[in-house]
Amino acid sequence: MSANGEYQTSYDPPKDLQAQAHVNSLDEYKRMYDQSLKDPEAFWGKIAEDFYWKKKWDVIEKHNIDTSKGPVSIEWFLGAQTNLAYNAVDRHVEAGMGDRVAFFWEGNDVDQSRTVTYKQLQDQVCQVANFLLSKGVKKGSDVTIYLPMIPELPATMLACARIGAVHSVVFAGFSAESLAGRIEDSRPSVVVTTSGVKRGAKPIELKKIVDEALALPGTDSVTTVLVYDHSIALPRNKVAFTEGRDVWWQDVVPGQPTEAPIEWVDAEHPSFKLYTSGSTGKPKGVLHTTAGYMVGAATTFKYVFDHRASDVYWCTADCGWITGHSYVTYGPLFNAASQVVFEGVPTYPDAGRCWDIVDKYNVSLFYTAPTAIRSLMAAGDEFVTRSKRSSLRVLGTVGEPINPEAWRWYNEVVGGGRAAIVDTWWQTETGAHMITPLPGAIPAKPGSATLPFFGVEPAILDESGKEVEGPGQGYLVVKRSWPSMLRTIAGDHARFEQTYFNVYKGYYFTGDGARRDEDGYIWILGRVDDVINVSGHRIGTAEVESALVGHHLCAEAAVVPVEHAIKGQVIYAFVTLYGDATYPPPEETRKALIAQVRKAIGPIATPDVIHWAPSLPKTRSGKIMRRILRKIASREEDQLGDISTLADPSVVETLLSLRGK
Ligand code: PRX
Repeated sequence: MSANGEYQTSYDPPKDLQAQAHVNSLDEYKRMYDQSLKDPEAFWGKIAEDFYWKKKWDVIEKHNIDTSKGPVSIEWFLGAQTNLAYNAVDRHVEAGMGDRVAFFWEGNDVDQSRTVTYKQLQDQVCQVANFLLSKGVKKGSDVTIYLPMIPELPATMLACARIGAVHSVVFAGFSAESLAGRIEDSRPSVVVTTSGVKRGAKPIELKKIVDEALALPGTDSVTTVLVYDHSIALPRNKVAFTEGRDVWWQDVVPGQPTEAPIEWVDAEHPSFKLYTSGSTGKPKGVLHTTAGYMVGAATTFKYVFDHRASDVYWCTADCGWITGHSYVTYGPLFNAASQVVFEGVPTYPDAGRCWDIVDKYNVSLFYTAPTAIRSLMAAGDEFVTRSKRSSLRVLGTVGEPINPEAWRWYNEVVGGGRAAIVDTWWQTETGAHMITPLPGAIPAKPGSATLPFFGVEPAILDESGKEVEGPGQGYLVVKRSWPSMLRTIAGDHARFEQTYFNVYKGYYFTGDGARRDEDGYIWILGRVDDVINVSGHRIGTAEVESALVGHHLCAEAAVVPVEHAIKGQVIYAFVTLYGDATYPPPEETRKALIAQVRKAIGPIATPDVIHWAPSLPKTRSGKIMRRILRKIASREEDQLGDISTLADPSVVETLLSLRGK
């Protein structure tokens, strides 16, 4: 706060950082940005020179994102052949950087750590690749990965990329049913997992979850389960094994040759699927390809974190999310970065763990989610101030809007006012940062993701679909393709076109609302569709509703988001029971419904509140009026507005009488 009691609203780049930054002034950013839009061929062509290409491209970019002009298709670096794993690992080893540390692994417990050099990573990637090849995995095959944050997770992703297989990493916090759904969709022959993992004080038996998933229908494509023996989390002898299907990693991987063939793939060869929630139906497999993804992930990493060879980088995201794909596995390794890979949680053994790790490895670039910042902020400054943190240069956030209070705490308490804050807006679908400050060039405003990255042309549309010029707010869309953009939804191109390109013709629809201020800065307002952002994780209301009605007592459910001081948003479920149930029902019913959601999706989707609803507010045509439910959930019933269109307006009174019951 300034002397006159007002908060600072704009923060210039720290001088030291700016003096050496890749992009060191707003003018330079603008010059590069303008070039990236005016002459994408020259702009991306020059950047792409930094990678290894088995065969160079013929055409930089070709796309149609306007459904009125035919099917949507997006292609970058047409005619090129390359390989993601080669560019992430082998290229650096061949350039003499084999001894450089790729991963400083920090386990869940404080006494667990190990380092992996680029050469060691290359060896391991080859060994896993050889194992996969020996099991018949080949170019285009799917492999499902259900691993915690151990170095073997990025190594397995890279092993897939090396042989042209398509990885699908499932966050190892999703339930057996969720895992089974993803396996059913991508039909892998191999699943890679561990015996177990400890998250904080809590052990989780991952192999058991895989066994449960593979007992469910639709998973019979799986013939091999490769199990990393993570005995520090769960002893080997506690793990059930299916003869002929399950193999211990330690028995079959280390004996493989440390050289493996590289599959040079076309620029648009699929590299991975990542399932994410939308507003309707089951999670969809967002499909990313090769060359454009590589250039996008690498370039954003370099500029947004202002990465240089002397940095130690640390992103707290799990590889089960897009942030872990682009900013643990791929972006940093394409840049030959040294990074911390952390298996644990920021509050174990106490809320100072992150800052202790920052000091231990001299972390200079740190990337986390607003939820983590808010929960550490709530724990008290003493957990931060016991560490030095003098190495920190750039502090990033991602996943949800960051409130200015948390932004300032991150800046002042964690960064000591010396580091730049980068609030990066992007999505699973975008593959890489889209709207974000560049730390040496773009002055930051707390709560704003600021300006678009190179090659990204955002627009804001009003209700009628017209572009809002200058200051204003509306729906955030993007006007042209960018290199790391998703190419389709696996197996469902029609859904891809419907979800992202049919809403506003000629634009990619993000699903977010945004405001542009008088300086052209963009402020993300959150989702405008039926997606809830819990602690930076996307959960579809439809998914939670379908989990709830999967319980034999639940006749109907309607799920809405409510704001939460730490988690950003939480899940609030209105539930109607079958038949002539009395309300409130016995407490066991609530427990059973919550257990049902955890079983169907996973603990991250646990509803915070179950609100009993003998009936739901519906229009005469039977449509649930979610607007009214949101107001009731947020305790804003004084702003219900017109309820006369309800088939039965007395429903509202009944709902209010059951609040907290
Ligand atoms: O609503 C936006 C929010 O997260 C959504 C994307 O979620 P997901 O695909 O899971 O990817 C999260 C990590 C990239 C967006 O539609 N979001 C992401 N970053 C921000 C954000 N909201 C506000 N500010 C951000 N920096």
